[in-house]
Amino acid sequence: ASDPLVLFMPSGKRGRFAKGTPVLDAARQLGVYVESVCGGRATCGRCQIEVQTGRFAKHNITSLDTNISPKGPKEERFERVRTLPEGRRLSCSATIEGDLVVDVPQDAIVNAQTVRKDADDRLIERNPAVHMCFVEVEPPDMEKPLGDLDRLRVALADQWGMHGVQIDPWLLPIAQQVLRDGAWQVTAAVHHDCERALPRLIALYPGLKNEAYGIACDIGSTTVALHLSSLLSGRTIASAGASNPQIRFGEDLMSRVSYVMMNPEGRAAMTDAVRAAISKLIDEVCEKGEIERRDILDSVFVGNPVMHHLFLGIDPTPLGGAPFALAVSGALTLPARDLGLDLNPGARTYILPCIAGHVGADAAAATLCEGPHRQEEMMLLVDVGTNAEIVLGNARRTLAASSPTGPAFEGAEISCGQRAAPGAIERVRIDRQTLEPRFRVIGSELWSDEPGFAEAVARTGVTGVCGSGIIEVIAEMYLSGIITEDGVIDGALAERSPRIVAENRTFSYVLKDQGPRLTINQTDVRAIQLAKAALYAGIKLLMDKHQIDTVDRIGLAGAFGSFIDPQYAMVLGLIPDCDLDAVKAVGNAAGTGARMALLNRGHRREIEDTVTRIEKIETAVEAKFQEHFVNAMALPNKVDAFPRLAA
Ligand code: FES
Repeated sequence: ASDPLVLFMPSGKRGRFAKGTPVLDAARQLGVYVESVCGGRATCGRCQIEVQTGRFAKHNITSLDTNISPKGPKEERFERVRTLPEGRRLSCSATIEGDLVVDVPQDAIVNAQTVRKDADDRLIERNPAVHMCFVEVEPPDMEKPLGDLDRLRVALADQWGMHGVQIDPWLLPIAQQVLRDGAWQVTAAVHHDCERALPRLIALYPGLKNEAYGIACDIGSTTVALHLSSLLSGRTIASAGASNPQIRFGEDLMSRVSYVMMNPEGRAAMTDAVRAAISKLIDEVCEKGEIERRDILDSVFVGNPVMHHLFLGIDPTPLGGAPFALAVSGALTLPARDLGLDLNPGARTYILPCIAGHVGADAAAATLCEGPHRQEEMMLLVDVGTNAEIVLGNARRTLAASSPTGPAFEGAEISCGQRAAPGAIERVRIDRQTLEPRFRVIGSELWSDEPGFAEAVARTGVTGVCGSGIIEVIAEMYLSGIITEDGVIDGALAERSPRIVAENRTFSYVLKDQGPRLTINQTDVRAIQLAKAALYAGIKLLMDKHQIDTVDRIGLAGAFGSFIDPQYAMVLGLIPDCDLDAVKAVGNAAGTGARMALLNRGHRREIEDTVTRIEKIETAVEAKFQEHFVNAMALPNKVDAFPRLAA
């Protein structure tokens, strides 16, 4: 009879193994990642699996739980000291006795950090760059003059198959003591980011050290968000966010670049500011997670090119003008201490690659998260900030560009605009006959014409209109005929409705008539037209290159993407025609991508490889951009149709 068949879930990897093979060994051979710190000594409890019972006709497996060995003395000893949850087994001790379906519990289900509940939960398969390896080191022996660290290296090679381990210099003065404190039993933290590079010993603990942490950070121009994860379970332990203190040097990216141009000290000041903010966030997550900074062994950072450069201490001024040269575009792995990060002295930092001078490591991380390069469907991924980063592609070909949308979508440059905050109008409807508006504000579930609205907003008041509110009010104005296809507010309607009022030589729409009065004027409409035309023209340029006139899926990233209603985005022609069901907010895709790179080194290679294949399109030098821009100034567009919107 042939050897038993073992199927690992959720990866679906399978193989035949001789009876008596430990399940952990089978997993290793198939490349299924199962954590192990103690090296199969049944002490760390990290290698837990679940055995599924029943028949698996589809997989040709008649699985019975008796096909796994009964618990042996080692597992029983473990259970006496620590609890093993019901149905779980230690894969290092349990052996294969017949056909099996094995479930590898995946704790690292990442919930995309978004207010919208519909963003998918994502499963990150773990395979972190840092491994915790418990080893028993030969005690010193007069007969064998091999040094302490050399015997540790021999132990790592013999017990973990790790050859050629390099020693981080910070360990040289402390290793002797740690080895003696642990009575020659120690846990080595080994960083092995890349198969091609040699593994490196970065930390050493006496006895069994059964925990290790990592941080993933998305440095946005407005906000910095940081997550603390367990490298062993994959769980997110704590998250924290703060506004980027560089804002005091300039609101948007270009003003920060010009600040550096103008002030010799500017670069250093902004580098210090962002690093200090990150340090505070690290304090915060350590406190929430009740862990020490020294337990953080790995870190991943993403950001747009200017944030990326400033964090690394690099002058961003070349990014301010053509040819928008990046000082370094490839991924970086370096000691965290070199970036002034106070973590474990041996901790490493991985920085995702930048795609182009305007399309940064944040867009790379969002790409890693959403995976246009992993699918057949043509996917458009848009992250709207003051600069829109656009990725369009599928498994065959992926293109990227950025487009200068300006800050209008964020509520800036709009007379009644404001940042998204309690009191800001976020939803608007206009009656097609009477032209009377109703709206909802952040912080209240009620519409303005519902009873109890005044009380509900009494604390904050109604203070302005945020980005998603501006999209809706302008789309609703267009749908009710208040603005024409060219974006002109129709003054003739002033006879029909008191909501249309003359101001200077143009007209405005009164969204709210008292305390404070909020109006949408002609300049506001123009600002949105310019922003959306820039975005659409960038997208269209990439569609031209692909020779397509429709996309299969659209992912809207970031805060803006989370709140904007896709239907209104299409009414205004911000995004191309697409099945509305296929337009999704993808939340903080950049942050999720950073966590994927933290928890699985395979994802680092995946995005590095993808970025080298992404074709970069520089919108500024493309002749067609201007033409697309002009057409996109019209609502929704002068030449392009939106058939699926009409349906
Ligand atoms: Fe440590 Fe199984 S590997 S308990």
